[in-house]
Parts: sequence; structure tokens; C-alpha cells
Amino acid sequence: MSIRTFTKASDGIDPNLVPKRVLRSGDLLPAVGLGTFGSDRFSAEDIADAVVGAAEIGYRHFDCASVYGNEKNIGEAFRSIMDGGLKREELWITSKVWNNMHGEGDVLKSCKQSLKDLQVDYLDLYLVHWPFPNFHAPGCDVDSRSPDAKPYIHENFMKTWRQMEELVELGLVRNIGTSNTTIAKMKLILRDAKIKPAVNEMELHPHFQQKEFFDFLKANDVQPIGFTPIGSPTRPDRDKTENDTVDIEDPVVLEIAKNHNVHPAVICIKWAVQRGQTPIPFSVRKNEYLSNLECSVIDPLTEDEMTALANLNKNCRLIKGQVFLWKEDQDWTALWDLDGEITPP
Ligand SMILES: NC(=O)c1ccc[n+]([C@@H]2O[C@H](COP(=O)([O-])OP(=O)(O)OC[C@H]3O[C@@H](n4cnc5c(N)ncnc54)[C@H](OP(=O)(O)O)[C@@H]3O)[C@@H](O)[C@H]2O)c1
Repeated sequence: MSIRTFTKASDGIDPNLVPKRVLRSGDLLPAVGLGTFGSDRFSAEDIADAVVGAAEIGYRHFDCASVYGNEKNIGEAFRSIMDGGLKREELWITSKVWNNMHGEGDVLKSCKQSLKDLQVDYLDLYLVHWPFPNFHAPGCDVDSRSPDAKPYIHENFMKTWRQMEELVELGLVRNIGTSNTTIAKMKLILRDAKIKPAVNEMELHPHFQQKEFFDFLKANDVQPIGFTPIGSPTRPDRDKTENDTVDIEDPVVLEIAKNHNVHPAVICIKWAVQRGQTPIPFSVRKNEYLSNLECSVIDPLTEDEMTALANLNKNCRLIKGQVFLWKEDQDWTALWDLDGEITPP
């Protein structure tokens, strides 16, 4: 299937109006990005098509990753967008190194592959996808464990981080960051990094606000990027547990959505942008991705609505990361350093 031709839409949003986060490098990160993980439900072609469509209506920030298995297709989308008239520097492109590529020399290899696939000669942001160097097969069951799984070992992580720093020095990457870390891990990374993380990508939605971590990051000039900002309502069943709550069915979210005459998903995005994180909602449907961007520039939530939403936290983590556990009998909370200390090996 050939990629669609990029044509700026007449019903789009002016990207200059979308709020920006200032990173420690001085670079400006658009405060809403398009997620590109299809969770087995959408093909790489569908997602690449949405990337072109989203750029047509004003998106400039795209959250990619090698493990999503669609960077080649998204590269075709970026080619179409740039052939259609947008300059490379108008786009914000993030990618991530996957867990089986943390070893010496592997980070550069992985980054170069992403650059090639995405058809660009630098990335705006490159993240360590998870702080665990564990491989598991894409789509595997949450109960599956890798025999090679390792806990977080700070000195090993810093060896990976040094390779990330080199990418900046080589000019292949403008900013580097972490993902799926904790306060305990972040304290050590901030202490030992030569180039400190510009962002931490993490789960954030009204039912999972991570207030202490959010405040810690802001105080340390690390911008939080929020994944699953709508609570990933249509994620695969294997990633759901019976105690998971549904943000877009919360009566408070429903009531506020009614007041603003929008889908409850849009309220989650508004809340995220106004709170100060950078949500990266996924959708391949134009009406959805358009409203997710538009809501950052019109009809803000009132202070009372922001307070009501701030009170909704249920500490409901959806992406628990079970497959990264390194012992058979462990509970998933071991990955998240709940008592403020890194869980010992
Ligand atoms: N760093 C990490 O480890 C990590 C982990 C997870 C995710 N991510 C990133 O975060 C992105 C977003 O996460 P996600 O896709 O799991 O969850 P999400 O953005 O919370 O939810 C996406 C789903 O919400 C629905 N939706 C989106 N906009 C809507 C709207 N305006 N109205 C109604 N429904 C709407 C869509 O459902 P339908 O498709 O049914 O319309 C869509 O599939 C991913 O694509 C990925 O880029 C990163």
C-alpha cells in the first residue's frame, strides 16, 4: 500500500498555538503528541496513514519506538510530510531503544536503525524505553518470564546512559530521556548523568496521577510525557486486570465532558495539558486525533474542574510491566520501588 500524499488540511489547528514545554536544552516540545503503538489492533500502514493525517491537521510531535514494529512505515509517512512541504525542523520525532539493545555498542546500532527507518538524520528525543535490559517476545502473555531477565542495576544502566550521551555528542539526537523509571531510580540517574534526562515518559491519566513523582520531575527540570493519557480503554484484554478502573467512565469525567460537549477522552487530554505534562494519545481516527489536538488550544477547563479531576486519582497503574520481572514468585509492584528504595536484586 503506498502512503498518502501530505496536504495541509483547511480544518486543522495552527501548530504555533499548541502549548510547548521548554526542555533543559532550550528545545520546545509540543505539549500534545501522537502515540504510534497500535497494540495489535491496527496495522503499521494504518498508523503511518494516521501520522500523515495528524500532520495535515497540525500535529508536529510523534512518539515512536523501534519495538512498535512500524518505524519503516512511519518513515514513509515522514517522507511524505516533508515532500509535501514541512521542514524537518518543524517536526518533533521521538524514538526509543528497546530492552534487548542496552549492551555496549547496541544503543548506537539501534539509534542508527531507527534513523534509517524513520528516514531522518537526527532525532529530537531518544529514550531508554524501560530501565530493565530484558527481552520478551512482542505480544507475549503477562505471565511469561524471560530466563535472562535482570533487575535494575544502576551501574549497568549508566553504561547504557553513557551511550545515550554519546548520541547527543555525535549530533544524532538532540535530547535524551528515560521512560518507566521511579523516583528512586531517577535520583541516581540525575546524580550520575553527564547529560541529565530531559524528559521521563511515564503512565499518567486521571486515575493514575503519580503526583509525588510528577512534582519531583518538575522540580528537577525533567518534563513528564504522559502515556496512556486516556487510560488506554481499548488495550488488549491480556493487559487488563479485574481491578483496573476506566477513566472515561468516571462520573466526574463524564459530567465535565457534558459541560464542554466533548468526548470524555478529550477531558483527559485537556487535564493533562493544563496540569503540565505532555500527553501522547493514540488514535488512527481523524475525528479523535483532531479533537485531541484542538482541545489544547480552545475552551480550557476551569479551576474547579481541574480540582475535581485532581481528586480522581485511584493509583490505578494499567501498564504494570509484569513481563520484566526477574524472579518467578515476584509481584509486579517490585518493578516500581513503592517504598522509595530500588527493589534489591
Ligand atoms: N513509553 C512507554 O513505555 C509507553 C507505554 C505505553 C504507551 N506508550 C505510548 O503512549 C501512546 C498512547 O497510549 P495508548 O495508545 O495505550 O493509550 P491511550 O492514548 O490512552 O488510548 C488510546 C485509545 O483511546 C481512544 N481514543 C483516543 N482519542 C479519543 C477520542 N478523542 N475520543 C474517543 N476515544 C479516543 C482510541 O480508541 P479506539 O482506537 O477504539 O478509537 C485509542 O485507541 C502509545 O501509542 C505509545 O506511543 C508508551
